[in-house]
Amino acid sequence: MNNFLAIFIILSLNGKIFQSTRVKKLPQLIADNTFLIKKNAEPKSEFEVSFDEFKNSLLMNNFSEPTWHQYANFTFYLKITNSIQTKREAGMFLAQIIHESMGLKFKKEIVCKKNECAGSYPVTPGIGNPHKFYYGRGYIQLTWDFNYKEASFDLFNDDRLIQDPDQVADKEEVSWLSAFWFWETKVSIDTGVKMGNFGSSTNRINGILECRGHNLEKARKRFEYYTTILKIFEINEKPKESGCYN
Ligand SMILES: *[C@@H]1O[C@H](CO)[C@@H](O)[C@H](O)[C@H]1NC(C)=O
Ligand SMILES: *[C@@H]1O[C@H](CO)[C@@H](O)[C@H](O)[C@H]1NC(C)=O
Repeated sequence: MNNFLAIFIILSLNGKIFQSTRVKKLPQLIADNTFLIKKNAEPKSEFEVSFDEFKNSLLMNNFSEPTWHQYANFTFYLKITNSIQTKREAGMFLAQIIHESMGLKFKKEIVCKKNECAGSYPVTPGIGNPHKFYYGRGYIQLTWDFNYKEASFDLFNDDRLIQDPDQVADKEEVSWLSAFWFWETKVSIDTGVKMGNFGSSTNRINGILECRGHNLEKARKRFEYYTTILKIFEINEKPKESGCYN
């Protein structure tokens, strides 16, 4: 048992009992106990992504250099959430968020800048706050009130992302956590993804528009990023494209 889990249990015994001990609830403990981050700065994991690999994943896909803080958040939450088990899957994740955020530059859906896309993502009665807008935010562009709600309760055990959806874009940590959360709960559950079929991850993220709709070229672009990243990560296998348009 690592320290982190031990602390989790102690806090639970102190009365902070969550309904579930799923790993993705742990970030709440980080938020409440920032001192823990230092204590647990080096959680064990089977693989590492170095800063150079992270940086080159952007540069060689023709985007500009990421910041050190972006790398630090990526690698920290990659380990601490334990949502991704192999380096290949980390490469898939990175390719997808690079596409979603145009090179880790945009954390709010660009077309929503003017009017917050009023009407595009209608609020579900009883789920969203009718005065808020649930358009794409964060590195994976979390959308729809029901996704904000599920992420909020899974990550923080309260409805903060429903009441203040801008956090997903404005707080760097939440931008990453929402992306890892989405990956863990909506993408990596796909058996195709687990088998390393990159198209299956695109299908999970934007299949309606990019696998069966009129935007196949976008899905192909995502795969191009992934192909570059596999080389940078020195994963010697032919990248598998299937699961989306083929
Ligand atoms: C990056 O730019 C080079 C040179 O213009 C081009 O050959 C390559 O296809 C581009 N890569 C991506 C992923 O867009
Ligand atoms: C995440 O990024 C923020 C903002 O740049 C930074 O303050 C914070 O220290 C980073 N977190 C980690 C775990 O590196």
